[in-house]
Amino acid sequence: MPRTSKTQAQPPATTLDAVVRDQAALDLLRFITCGSVDDGKSTLIGRLLWESRQLFDDQVDALRQASARFGTQGDAIDFALLVDGLAAEREQGITIDVAYRYFSSAHRRFIVADTPGHEQYTRNMATAASTADCALLLVDARAGLRTQTRRHAFIASLLGVRHVLLVVNKMDLVDFDPARFDSIRDAFSGFAATLGFTSIGAIPISALHGDNITQRSPRAPWYHGPTLVGYLDGVDPRQATDSRLVFPVQWVNRAHGDQRGLSGTVASGQVAVGDRVRVSASGQIAEITEIVTMDGALRRAGAGDAVTLRLDRPLDASRGDVIAAADDPLHTSDQFEATLVWMHAESGLIGRSYELKLATQWTTASLTAIKHRIDVNTLAHEPARQLQLNDIAVCNVACSKPLVCDAYGRSTTLGAFILVDRYSHATLAAGMIRHSLRRADNVHRQALAITRAARERLNGHAARVVWFTGLSGSGKSTLANALEVELHRRGLRTYILDGDNVRQGLNRDLGFTDADRVENIRRIAEVARLMLDAGLVVLTAFISPFARERALAREIIGAERFIEVYVDTPLAVCEQRDVKGLYRKARAGQIPNMTGLDSPYEPPLQPDVIADGAGDDIASVVAELAGRVTAADTANDSI
Ligand code: ADX
Repeated sequence: MPRTSKTQAQPPATTLDAVVRDQAALDLLRFITCGSVDDGKSTLIGRLLWESRQLFDDQVDALRQASARFGTQGDAIDFALLVDGLAAEREQGITIDVAYRYFSSAHRRFIVADTPGHEQYTRNMATAASTADCALLLVDARAGLRTQTRRHAFIASLLGVRHVLLVVNKMDLVDFDPARFDSIRDAFSGFAATLGFTSIGAIPISALHGDNITQRSPRAPWYHGPTLVGYLDGVDPRQATDSRLVFPVQWVNRAHGDQRGLSGTVASGQVAVGDRVRVSASGQIAEITEIVTMDGALRRAGAGDAVTLRLDRPLDASRGDVIAAADDPLHTSDQFEATLVWMHAESGLIGRSYELKLATQWTTASLTAIKHRIDVNTLAHEPARQLQLNDIAVCNVACSKPLVCDAYGRSTTLGAFILVDRYSHATLAAGMIRHSLRRADNVHRQALAITRAARERLNGHAARVVWFTGLSGSGKSTLANALEVELHRRGLRTYILDGDNVRQGLNRDLGFTDADRVENIRRIAEVARLMLDAGLVVLTAFISPFARERALAREIIGAERFIEVYVDTPLAVCEQRDVKGLYRKARAGQIPNMTGLDSPYEPPLQPDVIADGAGDDIASVVAELAGRVTAADTANDSI
């Protein structure tokens, strides 16, 4: 018979209202659980929920039914099913997303972030750790520490988690052997001691059987520490790192006519009616006249409050601005050193352009240097040319505009950012700022008296970049040469940047890995821009195999002056020509990373011109390109 009311299964009979009221008075601890799929994490959380007696009859019924259908524990209840809520997880037997669970002990309330153990899901772990007071790192007593355990400990420390507890699970499967527990604990303490945690603990448990969860286990009489819940009851919550007002503007609320409101969540500090505040980017100052919330007006708001601030005058503020106290301007910088946790299978490359999100601010940014990668097993620093999935590395990051930011140690809001792929929008990395780079403050653009427009007038033609892309041997250099001859004949000032030439000088240090090709193209785009500023028609002939870097070149040059020419020659034709004998060598295994063979070429989807590099009608291609280069310059009417 279906139940119609929710009554508590255990303990019996307090009203729901009373439970809620009592619990609201308790303080709150946030913690994360990290571990591999098989370490028993879901079982542990299920057990905690169960033991905390927050389950209701109908949930218990559903759980019994699910246990019978999907469970791995025979007739007994499978606690993991309590938390593995998603159907896909059940079927695959893995946990696939971060999930927050709520429960309480007699002493406090808990929010536990259940973060999946798979290596590729480090991202969720990092997200959850940024607000956690404490991290439980789960290991299987039989397996001991894994690289993953050390990585999670390291990431937790980076994100400012102060307390870490090694939960040695499945002790029943090693007969509660104290020597086994001691050796795992000692290995962990030795490792974690260098990570700057306030406390490091270890506890032997069996999540499945409930040993040392709320009751001390008679099977481990040699263990004298607290139970797991006892430990959680005693952990100090995270202290706010920042008392300064930080209010990232989420959106500008125009609901009340002219009287604009700035909506967002107070990240740190306090704000009160009558306070004078400053918009960080513009420096404009105004006074708070009202603080509006869903539940009415407030006199004062503090960290975590979602509010709309009304001001005494209209300001130039928009999403991405940060509001600070008028007398406490926040720091801005466009370059900083940061620790990155790389979270995606796509490699992180120096020079590639990414979207960077910090608080509510967005900008494009790139890595300018990878200073070192950290081996999470030994904590040794090693050199790296690029970042792979799960790498942790210290890098220099350059943004295309200044951001309000700070060191993560001072402000978790203004010190943490993510990098996002510009095409797939996948989150690639989480970053924590170590410090801003002083050169950001000390390098300023010099205004020059002679402008590009003035040079163009003197030359009598507009500056342009014609960007040839295509396989090696496709005919880029041949076409570029023929075009230059024609433009020169017409009296235009031109220059060719050609892969084989530039790689003997400026880019002599670069090879043909993905990372080096990205840097090759970035430098060429920058050089082409300088030549464009000098008023020239620049022809570039590089394979430029990646769409992302061609897009970056277009951005650096400016779309209206950029003509992308795809020299579309089938690989078979290039290979048959094999002017430099490279394809033959590559096929013989003497040249690695040959474009078109074992290194990718991403054909342009929307080039400005497609030139058939296999045909022999160079003259008509040249005529079309020359026509485009000399076409009326809409970007510069003065010519
Ligand atoms: S790019 O990929 O970074 O744009 P770039 O155009 O500068 O390459 O250089 C390509 C030229 O380098 C080719 O035309 C060829 O002569 C030479 N080369 C040598 N090794 C390789 C390789 N592994 N892949 C492609 N080109 C190579």
